Amino acid sequence: MLKGTFPVEKFKQLSTPFYYYDVKLLQDTLDVVKTESGKYGYHVHYAVKANANPRILSIIAANGLGADCVSGGEVQAALDAGFPADKIVFAGVGKADWEINLGLDNDIFCFNVESAVELGIINELAAAKNKVASIALRINPEVDAHTHAKITTGMKENKFGINLSQLGGVLDKLKEMKNVKLIGIHSHIGSQITDMSSFRNLVIRFNEIQEELEAHGVTVENLNFGGGLGIDYYHPNHLSIPAFDNYFAAIHKLLQVRPGQQVHFEPGRSIVAQCGTLISKVLYVKEGETKKFAILDAGFTELIRPAMYDAYHRIENISSDEAVETYDVVGPICESSDVFGKDVELNKAHRGDLIALRSAGAYGEVMASQYNCRHLPKAYYSDTI
Ligand code: LLP
Repeated sequence: MLKGTFPVEKFKQLSTPFYYYDVKLLQDTLDVVKTESGKYGYHVHYAVKANANPRILSIIAANGLGADCVSGGEVQAALDAGFPADKIVFAGVGKADWEINLGLDNDIFCFNVESAVELGIINELAAAKNKVASIALRINPEVDAHTHAKITTGMKENKFGINLSQLGGVLDKLKEMKNVKLIGIHSHIGSQITDMSSFRNLVIRFNEIQEELEAHGVTVENLNFGGGLGIDYYHPNHLSIPAFDNYFAAIHKLLQVRPGQQVHFEPGRSIVAQCGTLISKVLYVKEGETKKFAILDAGFTELIRPAMYDAYHRIENISSDEAVETYDVVGPICESSDVFGKDVELNKAHRGDLIALRSAGAYGEVMASQYNCRHLPKAYYSDTI
């Protein structure tokens, strides 16, 4: 079984569980993102929600990317990490007044507005500060992302964005507002999208929406396609950088860009997922009646994706090369859903073996919780360990 390469001897000195980040892989991924988006002059805003670890954020900021935020806390984290305010976009279906004010005070690039009511509030809050807020309308494009229902966002039944049928009304309302300026349109249809036809359908829908806007006498400077590009959870060792070339090329091929228009993206998972690994230790190997359990010292408090989305993460025993056996790999949390994988093939496991849960750089550390009064996991980096 081909496994990842890890500094196992160094890991033995550290207390588990912890996140380990391969900084070189992150940099290599960023280099590909910059090269491939650069071919078309596209702007990339990293989706902070995928991983807001300050070191990771500062590496991404130093590479010149913008930031896509969904809360005031994320806007602040992005500013603290060195993302320039004029490269910060702020989406979110429920922005509180203080969060909007934080964006206004810092003159962020754009608020991605999700409803007519929100538009009215931003207009009011901006007026109180004698400012004009730049906004993009987040449109719910009714495009199926063909991904897990819990990470689908662009369908009528989802809470996100302005419905297509309501767009005309919002455009009329906008004309009366003095303290918001429409600079773009935005959509994000979901996450872990591996079917390129979903992105193609989104571009086709954008082309149609642009025509509708023009029928209302509106042209926008910015088109933002959100994030969503999926990664290969099954092959982290040889497909460690997603196919950004195909992704940007697919968009470029179909998109009708108006003169002077800028195109934006908000990838999260595709940038950080593969560089992160959750390292854990086997506490017990328990022989059940029908099953053998490898009980780890990490649980869904450190990595919730399997419990929450039935997500697959590749699991490797990085301490053992003995013959493979079949285990249910579980955590210590007092809930039956605290299972990382059923019938997992692992090199024979012993108490104390180190276990790597791969592709955990996105929506891993950032979704950790203190349930069961557990401690939040620490993080270590390949260049400083
Ligand atoms: N832009 C917006 C407005 C978003 O809501 C998201 C993700 C992104 C960009 C970045 O999407 P990405 O490129 O990472 O797919 N916790 C879930 C994923 C939730 C995604 C939420 N929004 C998981 O672990 O699969």
